[in-house]
Amino acid sequence: MGGKDELLERLRKAEGRWISGESLSAKLAVSRTAVWKQICKLREEGYEIQSSPRKGYILRGVPDRLLPREIRSGLQAKVFGRGKIIHFSEADSTNSRAKELAVRGAPEGTIVLAGKQTGGRGRRGRSWFSPEGTGLYVSLILRPPVAPSEAPKITLMTAVAVCDALVPFLPSSPRVKWPNDVLAGGKKIAGILTEISTEPDAVDYVVAGIGLNVNTPAGQFPKEIRDRATSLLVETGKTHSITVILRSLLESFERNYGLFLEGKFPLLLERWRTCAGIMGQYGRVDQVGRVLAGEIRDVDEDGFLLILDEKGRLHRIVSGDVHYLQR
Ligand code: BTN
Repeated sequence: MGGKDELLERLRKAEGRWISGESLSAKLAVSRTAVWKQICKLREEGYEIQSSPRKGYILRGVPDRLLPREIRSGLQAKVFGRGKIIHFSEADSTNSRAKELAVRGAPEGTIVLAGKQTGGRGRRGRSWFSPEGTGLYVSLILRPPVAPSEAPKITLMTAVAVCDALVPFLPSSPRVKWPNDVLAGGKKIAGILTEISTEPDAVDYVVAGIGLNVNTPAGQFPKEIRDRATSLLVETGKTHSITVILRSLLESFERNYGLFLEGKFPLLLERWRTCAGIMGQYGRVDQVGRVLAGEIRDVDEDGFLLILDEKGRLHRIVSGDVHYLQR
């Protein structure tokens, strides 16, 4: 660390107290003019630094622009967010960018972010509403040393990670809807798109893409999804720092991914069941070419949904969209 990073750390550590220009120049071993120049650069990046001829400098606010430095400040994760953070002010899809990087050898822990997406992708060929400034669009690159058959479990694991990350910010617990929609107040607040590339006996990479509606006002959602979509702003009545939410997500992701790598998927499944709270409900699953209705029994050890139809037959669902129904 040096220059403006060190200056910023000193202002941060002062926690709301003034620091004189003289003491900053002594601690950083640079002239007071050099301190002033660095303060100007930090202001250009969006840091609110007040100055007073007699008192010195004080940090009043930090930018919420997903700057790598801000993401890492106070971050508890050791891998995710610690390596390369690639930030696009605009990208077609962070998942597409992350896949390109993965193919070129980007290591586990690399994260790709965008301020907005012009072609945000959802599950089953759908699009993901990705306006500028109000949502979090992030893709994580993973290189799990597991058999290809294990990789789909990462989808459920990611849903648990997103749920855990949101708990501190919501008035009531978020829920997951199979396989990996995250709901708050009964509406979708986050979506997950995992894309897996495998070789015959190993996983090459997994890209876990997460879209989270943070400060989206209800009226900003397109009409077609307005009655089904929500955001942290809508659920809590206040705006949230996207950087703070991302930090919570990276920490929760790393914790849950750690459990997966330690072979503790049953623990994750238990947590998933608690987050879902849907067992025994009646539901309908829309799959390509067929619709199946019945009682939602459970998810099995591979993460597939088990549904008991009216004739008493148990179906194991690999992919589809679930809708809860009144019996
Ligand atoms: C869904 O619910 O259908 C999944 C939505 C996933 C959206 C995220 S936003 C970040 C990443 N980049 C994408 O293009 N998609 C995922």
